[in-house]
Amino acid sequence: MEENRFQSCWQAVTPPEFPALKGDCNAGAVIVGGGLCGLLCAYELLCKNVRDIVILEAGRILSGTTAKTTGKITSQHGLMYAELEKNLHVRAASQYAGANEAAVSRFAQIVREENIDCDFVPCDSYVYACTPEGAQRVKAEAEAAGRLSIDASFTEQCEELPFPVSGAVRFSGQARFHPMKFACRLAEILRDRGVKIFEHTAAVALDDNRVLTRAGYVYGKSVLICSHYPFTNLRGLYFARIVQNRSYLAALRGAPRLDGMYLDCEQAGLSFRSARISGENMLLLGWGAHKTGHETDVPHYEKLKQEAKKLYPDSSVTFLWSAQDCETNDGIPLVGRYRQFGDRVYLATGFRKWGMTGSMAAAKLLSDLVVSGKSEGGGVFSPRRQNFGMQAGKLFRETADTAANFLHGYMEIPKGGVAELKNGQGGIVEFEGAKIGACRSEDGSLHGIRPVCTHMRCPLRWNPEEKTWDCPCHGSRFDVNGNVLQNPAFLPLEKRGPD
Ligand SMILES: Cc1cc2nc3c(=O)[nH]c(=O)nc-3n(C[C@H](O)[C@H](O)[C@H](O)COP(=O)(O)OP(=O)(O)OC[C@H]3O[C@@H](n4cnc5c(N)ncnc54)[C@H](O)[C@@H]3O)c2cc1C
Ligand code: FES
Repeated sequence: MEENRFQSCWQAVTPPEFPALKGDCNAGAVIVGGGLCGLLCAYELLCKNVRDIVILEAGRILSGTTAKTTGKITSQHGLMYAELEKNLHVRAASQYAGANEAAVSRFAQIVREENIDCDFVPCDSYVYACTPEGAQRVKAEAEAAGRLSIDASFTEQCEELPFPVSGAVRFSGQARFHPMKFACRLAEILRDRGVKIFEHTAAVALDDNRVLTRAGYVYGKSVLICSHYPFTNLRGLYFARIVQNRSYLAALRGAPRLDGMYLDCEQAGLSFRSARISGENMLLLGWGAHKTGHETDVPHYEKLKQEAKKLYPDSSVTFLWSAQDCETNDGIPLVGRYRQFGDRVYLATGFRKWGMTGSMAAAKLLSDLVVSGKSEGGGVFSPRRQNFGMQAGKLFRETADTAANFLHGYMEIPKGGVAELKNGQGGIVEFEGAKIGACRSEDGSLHGIRPVCTHMRCPLRWNPEEKTWDCPCHGSRFDVNGNVLQNPAFLPLEKRGPD
């Protein structure tokens, strides 16, 4: 049986619907973005007695990365504490650990106090290594995390995994849940407590504390930008500090149920966790990590299916999807004041595929800043931080990569004419002497666009697996008709080719 492709296993749960904004309005706080981060910010502000909260969402709430996550709630973000300890002041490393440990506990508290039915299961989280060299690294991680007061230990065995490991670092007292059950219920709670949520209302510009939408202005005493990639990225040059990386996930029926959650210590390795989906136990297998718009010739979905078959021969793939998240030059989220817009505008982004605890930590931090002007332990996340040791190399590589993408794209020679495209194919082709991007649907209809990103004019690449136009510079994505699927771009592509 063919699996559900491009939809995550969580999306059977659909969020409540909300109206679009009509006309101007005022608010105590305006939150841009109705993903987990925006909703949690609203919740924490409510808990601190901020009233008149407005959430603006460009499409449907919870239709972004939150709907396609793995949903592990953990302060174990790959191997990072040994690095943080080495590269940052120990105080900063301990702020990062403390904020994420507190976020794990806060999830448990909200689930309990609000009685949210979201399959919340306390469990341990592991990063494993399959080589002796990797085992040394996970051991060093266990020691570093221990020094930062995390309940971490080294183990030589992970019996639940379908292969032997050389070692693993275990964080005890973590959790997993159904992210959409949690977040949809949270949206209902916010609505019932007076938060105004507007869908199909994109923020298109910011003028100090006034957010401009196509329906009117929303003036907020405070403005919180939780739009995944900040829609205001030009001011502050955030496009030079953030990249987007994609990974692939499969939900397997008929695989064993795992108590723990697991992740390979290598960058593009495997991830494992069990989940309850529509009353059935499933195993979520994750794999791969690449910059959006890169690796367009790699058949990621087929590779993940082969891996699933090899590890769990009796299982079948029921859902297969991919998603992307923002990552900063130093791997630490950017959470705090957006100084380029004054003192009452705030930002949360760059969760590096750890935005469950990342969003929760950001919500605490930003709500503290809004209410009291201060946030204890927020220095490590500050958008103004200057830990150049961790940032410089990556910043240089990203700038060089963006320049190379520009050159490569503008010099790319069309593979042929529009007429040569077969049904289901797409790419850069020639039409009336000009280079266009085109895709022929399975029914033979042709969709042509100008293959230049509307964010900062980077040439786009055809993604044959998902039939999308992906930007290799900062990760915007567009469908075959040029509609935006993922920001920072917010304008559609120009149409080209035969009507
Ligand atoms: C493959 C994968 C696996 C992951 N697994 C985990 C995990 O196991 N544990 C973990 O902690 N994290 C994980 N993450 C990370 C986590 O899912 C994300 O960091 C988190 O969901 C981001 O939430 P968000 O609210 O910032 O973004 P989103 O959920 O993308 O929400 C942003 C919202 O803002 C809206 N928006 C954008 N622009 C505008 C605008 N101009 N105006 C109005 N609205 C706008 C969008 O439409 C969207 O709804 C994973 C990520 C990926 C990619
Ligand atoms: S996303 Fe920035 S140029 Fe395309």
